[in-house]
Amino acid sequence: MTILVTGGAGYIGAHVVRLLRARGDAVVVDDLSTGSAERIADAPLVEIDLAAEEATAQLTAVMHEYGVEAVIHIAAKKQVGESAERPAWYYDQNVGAMAHLLMAMESAGVDKLMFSSSAATYGLPDLPADTLLPETVECKPISPYGKTKLICEWMCQDAEAAWGLRWAGLRYFNVAGSGWPELGDPAVLNLIPIALRALTNGEQPTVFGDDYDTPDGTCIRDYVHVLDLAQAHLDTLNYLSRGDRPHEVFNVGTGVGASVSEVLEQIGVSTGYVVDPPVVARRAGDPAKLVADVQRIQQTLGWSPTQTLAEMVDSAWAGWAPIHGEPAVAPS
Ligand SMILES: NC(=O)c1ccc[n+]([C@@H]2O[C@H](COP(=O)([O-])OP(=O)(O)OC[C@H]3O[C@@H](n4cnc5c(N)ncnc54)[C@H](O)[C@@H]3O)[C@@H](O)[C@H]2O)c1
Repeated sequence: MTILVTGGAGYIGAHVVRLLRARGDAVVVDDLSTGSAERIADAPLVEIDLAAEEATAQLTAVMHEYGVEAVIHIAAKKQVGESAERPAWYYDQNVGAMAHLLMAMESAGVDKLMFSSSAATYGLPDLPADTLLPETVECKPISPYGKTKLICEWMCQDAEAAWGLRWAGLRYFNVAGSGWPELGDPAVLNLIPIALRALTNGEQPTVFGDDYDTPDGTCIRDYVHVLDLAQAHLDTLNYLSRGDRPHEVFNVGTGVGASVSEVLEQIGVSTGYVVDPPVVARRAGDPAKLVADVQRIQQTLGWSPTQTLAEMVDSAWAGWAPIHGEPAVAPS
């Protein structure tokens, strides 16, 4: 069975492709806008810009040529700040791409789709401080990026109603670490890479607010290891073949949060750098705590996270140097 992976040359996609290739065939579709062909070794790669008008025909041809049975749609633009500056482009890239993909799948008779969604679909949920975030909470995304992800979920629902698409969306929380050092996260957008960049540049990372209603006063987020996340994609493929599919979307996190201070402390342990961050004012729109309720994915897909925060940070550090050309050792 050949699985088509869009965005397979990116950070998360390359991990999914490596796991898929260990058990069967995969073909990658990517425009290499943020991904790189080196990340997928000898896996077949077809360069297509999914947002381009000709993408529907190109994708349909790829599905026929490779005998594609299911699609894992990971490709997207993912920068929240950039999406606020260039909203129309984000809708074009993320929603436009989904439209082309769904038209190609319908036309090629491919009816299984796993979609990379995001916790950004939730926005700033109004929940009591110590509550985990379930999939049933109302989605009120606050960024154009988060809105594009929610719209893509709606498009899948509509395709299911119209022509029987079998789909599931994984709402990723904060993805971290690397499964192999050469597959580290090349983007510097999340706390761990931001802190690694600061430290390897001889600077200190910044803590935005230590007066939140959390045990140490810093914000708590849910970090999930990219390899655990990649495994969830394979489990979702199995789910799509099932007769009973009670749910459309699944949180992917650990259900256990880590505070900014705890992550920075672990970064000090993993790297050997002295971490002594300055604390500045809170950023607007940062909730105190966002941690996934993962009961649904555990009970329905049988998936559970296996990796600890220490393993995420250790592997992120191992992946940092090869990508950023830094020596992966602390200064003496
Ligand atoms: N990294 C995270 O913490 C996180 C959290 C939540 C959701 N996500 C989602 O996971 C997915 C992958 O994220 P990532 O961190 O691996 O990002 P990434 O930028 O490393 O990977 C995205 C891949 O998609 C490709 N791509 C982008 N636009 C394309 C287009 N128009 N046509 C074809 N290919 C295109 C890029 O070249 C890249 O290879 C995205 O959908 C993102 O929204 C990521």
